[in-house]
Amino acid sequence: MDIKVTLANQLKTKPQDESKLGFGNFFTDHMFLMDYVDGQGWIDPRIVPYGDFHLDPAAMVLHYGQAIFEGTKCYRRADGGLQLFRPEANFARMTRSAQRLGMPALDEQTALEGLKKLIAIEKDWVPHQDGTSLYIRPTMIALDAQLGVHAAHHYLFYIILCPVGSYYKEGLKPVSIYVEDEYVRAVRGGVGFTKCAGNYAASILAGEMAAKKGFSQVLWLDGVEQRYVEEVGSMNMMFAYGNKIVTPALNGSILPGITRDSIIKVARQLGYEVEETRLAIEDIFADAKSGKLTEAFGTGTAAVISPVGTLCWKDETITIGDGGIGPVAGKLYATLTGIQCGRLEDENGWITKLD
Ligand code: COI
Repeated sequence: MDIKVTLANQLKTKPQDESKLGFGNFFTDHMFLMDYVDGQGWIDPRIVPYGDFHLDPAAMVLHYGQAIFEGTKCYRRADGGLQLFRPEANFARMTRSAQRLGMPALDEQTALEGLKKLIAIEKDWVPHQDGTSLYIRPTMIALDAQLGVHAAHHYLFYIILCPVGSYYKEGLKPVSIYVEDEYVRAVRGGVGFTKCAGNYAASILAGEMAAKKGFSQVLWLDGVEQRYVEEVGSMNMMFAYGNKIVTPALNGSILPGITRDSIIKVARQLGYEVEETRLAIEDIFADAKSGKLTEAFGTGTAAVISPVGTLCWKDETITIGDGGIGPVAGKLYATLTGIQCGRLEDENGWITKLD
């Protein structure tokens, strides 16, 4: 499909200090848009100056929450070239999210073409410093101004870009996580496996309460017994017992993370044993106390790999390992970011070079 381009008359001043980018604070000069109309499919792919949308106050996304998104990144190599990491996996996951929420399957090919064209225009926004990248946020929302509860007939797909540093203010330093024992994030049969906005809305209250107690994030337990580890919301969880890594199996209520999948493959290639299983929180606590559990870390596009130094559950706080960055998390971080930034060979065909 032909992608029409309208360039901005005036460009923004780019953030000068890349060590202060943080996550999600700055947006580039342009965005990609494409409309969906029942009977016509995806139409009018275009790149336009970044700016406000016109939305009817009755737009269905604002009432019934048909909103899904993705997160992927563009990295700058040491030679200055740019590359994407598994963007097609994100667009395929968006189609799976869309299907669960009664939204149309994405035109994945046009989305990928649009993304490449958008990044070609915004290439100077991709930061240079180690640990930085251009975060890519594809989003799909329902537009119809109609208050009946049913699938919409018009949707908007868009991509915005954001130069980022680390997701947590701690960077690669270990974070403290609060195990939520009152609220739940998702139940099986629901929408937990999708990247829908509502999953994140459901997490905000618990996140705020945990932040007041000094924790970076909340670890969610399963929605039935509140016993089995699910995910952290911005990342999937992994636990190391020496050279064996265990992670909650995908059960329908956990997000099938692309970083999770990549880490499982890379870990096996590096010789670690990886088991996807059901993990009871009391076993995690017992194993941390006995020293059998040596490391815990989260994986996600925004967070990359984030070591967990302490876990608090029902007012008991435990330190995992020595509370620092363990060797397994360190090795996996170096390997994954090495592949993403072009320092290591891409044996799995995950990289799309843009130049
Ligand atoms: C990501 O890792 O890309 C996410 O979407 C997590 C979060 C920032 C919502």
